[in-house]
Amino acid sequence: MKPDSAVILSNVYKTFPGSKKPVEALRGVDLEIPNGEIFGFLGPNGAGKTTTLRILTTLLPFEKGEAFVAGIDVKKNPQTVRKCIGYVSQKGGADLHATGWENLILQGRLYNLGKHDSQMQAKAVVDAFSLSECIHRLVETYSGGQRRRLDIALAMMHQPKILFLDEPTTGLDPQSRDNLWSKIIELKQKGITIFLTSHYLDEVDALADSLAIMDHGKIVALGTPSALKKQISGDIITLGVEKNFHDHAISLFGSETSFIRQITTEEQELRLYVDKGASVLPQILRLLDQANIQFETIQMSIPSLNDVFLQKTGRFLREGASE
Ligand SMILES: Nc1ncnc2c1ncn2[C@@H]1O[C@H](COP(=O)(O)OP(=O)(O)O)[C@@H](O)[C@H]1O
Ligand SMILES: [Mg+2]
Repeated sequence: MKPDSAVILSNVYKTFPGSKKPVEALRGVDLEIPNGEIFGFLGPNGAGKTTTLRILTTLLPFEKGEAFVAGIDVKKNPQTVRKCIGYVSQKGGADLHATGWENLILQGRLYNLGKHDSQMQAKAVVDAFSLSECIHRLVETYSGGQRRRLDIALAMMHQPKILFLDEPTTGLDPQSRDNLWSKIIELKQKGITIFLTSHYLDEVDALADSLAIMDHGKIVALGTPSALKKQISGDIITLGVEKNFHDHAISLFGSETSFIRQITTEEQELRLYVDKGASVLPQILRLLDQANIQFETIQMSIPSLNDVFLQKTGRFLREGASE
């Protein structure tokens, strides 16, 4: 037993038989996720995300390595693992030709809840996921957002401690997506650990306490969104400066300051790469003023997870996703 972490993967390998040669889907995956956080799992198509998810949810055997979920050995005690986890696949699991309520009650019975407990728990999840308006309609009449909320409600019927979500907001309109985000945050506030696979960098950026980027069956980056972005280049200060001032500005910043890592120029812009933008901004303004360099605009931005993804995998996420 390793009770402190929600998920532990240690040197996990998974190979599928392929038509020509075997596909090494996972090539030595190590991962540890503390209890109670939202963990974001990013990677281009074919990286091995779903394979990892299926191993953790006991749906797929693996050759080598160890996996623990909720402190339980996935290989040795898959039944016990299943009681502790909820899993929402990308397609979802609801029966379209039954009502939401019928789906919930059936799910409760599948998890061996008695009739009364099934009803109580169904009422609780209907409330938690704001489903009362549609719950007695056939699922085939639901909007995309309602479907997704029902899928998660189904996964929460047996009150799991850890919830695995495979791309929960793909295909949702912005409003439904925001709504689902707030439901996911509410689950975290109740102490549920959430393992969230996503194609959307902004989603992981907004929700995840920490994240991993997977590529070609390996974890290539692991950390908090802000720490990963820091690794790239601190902050970027963009100054709107006339082109004829550029050389002057470059020599000024080059000679006077040690806090600027790199300067790049574009048409009417200077970009300064610094460690801590907020603390060096006043110095930069003072230097410009003293040197009589006019600037029209000033903007500070932080590197995005896209920059991180690009650096770690050599391609943009969207590019990889459409492979
Ligand atoms: N059942 C399977 N049989 C053969 N190859 C598979 C199977 N499932 C996945 N793969 C291969 O394993 C690799 C990882 O797939 P997957 O985990 O689905 O990636 P992701 O979810 O990151 O898109 C891919 O090369 C995929 O083609
Ligand atoms: Mg997948």
